[in-house]
Amino acid sequence: MSAKVPGSAGLPLLGDRSYEFYKDPIKFQHKYMENTKSRVFLARFLNKPTIFVGSNHVVHEVLTEHSNKMELGYKQFWFEIFGDNVLFSDGEFADSLRESLKQLFTEEAIETYQSTIERIVKKSLSNLDTGQPLCIYNLFKRLAIEVCLGLFLGLDFSQPEADVIADLTITHWHGIISVPLAVKVPLMSESTYSKAMDAKRKLLEIIHQRRIDKRHEFVERVEGLGSLTEESVNNHLLLFTSALVPKALSSILTSFVIETGSPDQVDTQSSLLHDEALLERVLLEVLRLYPPFFGGRRVVTEDFSAGGFRFPAGHGVLYMTYTAQRDRAVFEDPDTFNPDRWTHKNANDRERLYCFGMGPRKCVGQNLVSTILKTVIRELLEKYTWEMVADQDLPCKCLPVYRPRNQVLVKFKSSMGQDSGYLTSPGSPLSPACPNCKKFVMPSPQGSKEAVENEIGVRRENGTIPGCTCSCEGVSPMKRTSH
Ligand code: HEM
Repeated sequence: MSAKVPGSAGLPLLGDRSYEFYKDPIKFQHKYMENTKSRVFLARFLNKPTIFVGSNHVVHEVLTEHSNKMELGYKQFWFEIFGDNVLFSDGEFADSLRESLKQLFTEEAIETYQSTIERIVKKSLSNLDTGQPLCIYNLFKRLAIEVCLGLFLGLDFSQPEADVIADLTITHWHGIISVPLAVKVPLMSESTYSKAMDAKRKLLEIIHQRRIDKRHEFVERVEGLGSLTEESVNNHLLLFTSALVPKALSSILTSFVIETGSPDQVDTQSSLLHDEALLERVLLEVLRLYPPFFGGRRVVTEDFSAGGFRFPAGHGVLYMTYTAQRDRAVFEDPDTFNPDRWTHKNANDRERLYCFGMGPRKCVGQNLVSTILKTVIRELLEKYTWEMVADQDLPCKCLPVYRPRNQVLVKFKSSMGQDSGYLTSPGSPLSPACPNCKKFVMPSPQGSKEAVENEIGVRRENGTIPGCTCSCEGVSPMKRTSH
């Protein structure tokens, strides 16, 4: 016999808690979990009795075992602004759409996108201003917009039209975030919304034109999806090019740089470049503590029980990724950033992360996201070291994506400029340790042994301290850490 979920749905409209939730989702979840003494609680949200799920085990059960008894809860708000697509479909139709879309994101498909991603990332990060602190959220958002529009529409950001299209995706996006608020306060966002609809129309025209031109591999692959109608192809391209994706990418990259940017992390930065497993663990921990999306919504279509609770038909469900990923039932000391947990207690718990959803409606773009993130991070690690500007106040906000509320300022230093060579961790066959500072010189970006030796040779000729191959100039490693 399953129990009623603790909490109250209150009266229609009067008892609605949407405003309180949108104002501060983290405070909201703490308050109601505390009041009900439960990680699964009931409240009225978007004027519907809604079960908020912050228990890691219950999120898993709901998303994997009961997916067919719920529909995705986004159609009511976003259908008009996006047009029909997989996010608004359910049942067998959604399954078949997903099967088609997955072909765009297979390992083999992603390999064909790699050179485009690399080209854009290298160009964008080739010349970071190392003279002054940079606001990293904006930096990464711009980079991610260029990657996404370059990849999905074949745009070239040396052409002015690309910026116009990027601006359209942002105007379109503003319509998306205005909708739940507009539901709460009718007409509040009318002009934002109509501008967004106008942007949608223009974007669809552009997408249509890019498809005719067929100038790059992603669009060609999309044309190969015979099972999708013309309209469906266009609407999915509109979904992929939405500003939501760059925002989420930027959110993750920002969290990554913050976590690896404290003064004591410089050695970690150099290790990350060569230790794929460590990079993987750090990324898992970034995704666990700072998921870009606070959670996801469903509407129950058929009664079921999960975690011992009743989920009645007609109720909304909000799975709270942020909360579930900090559930101490799965993650010991859950608020601590500890990448090593992924080799010890949580070695087999990747399925306990929900930042890309879980179960049959999991994100189809997850592997592409991972490729983009790693390409950006490797490029950063190869070219720069970074350090957070001291004494920054970094309160975070969760909506629409998780990110620090204020600018996050980070000082980048060119690895080349600083050390006239790249620093790396021990173990590389090409890494002669500097007898003075014990650091290691790694291959040049081209990676050839000759290139490294030439580089070292040049420095010796230029009169660097005898025996020191990394131009540390005799300064001790301790002093050199304050990057
Ligand atoms: C950092 C970037 C991204 C994050 C954090 C993310 C996260 C998510 C999440 C949490 C879901 C599940 C929503 C739910 O359960 O209600 C989802 C679904 C989806 N994602 Fe992503 N996503 C990202 C990037 C992408 C990209 C690049 C694409 C494709 C180009 C993509 C395509 C999709 C699609 C089509 C779905 C819907 C699947 C369905 O309805 O069955 N996502 N994503």
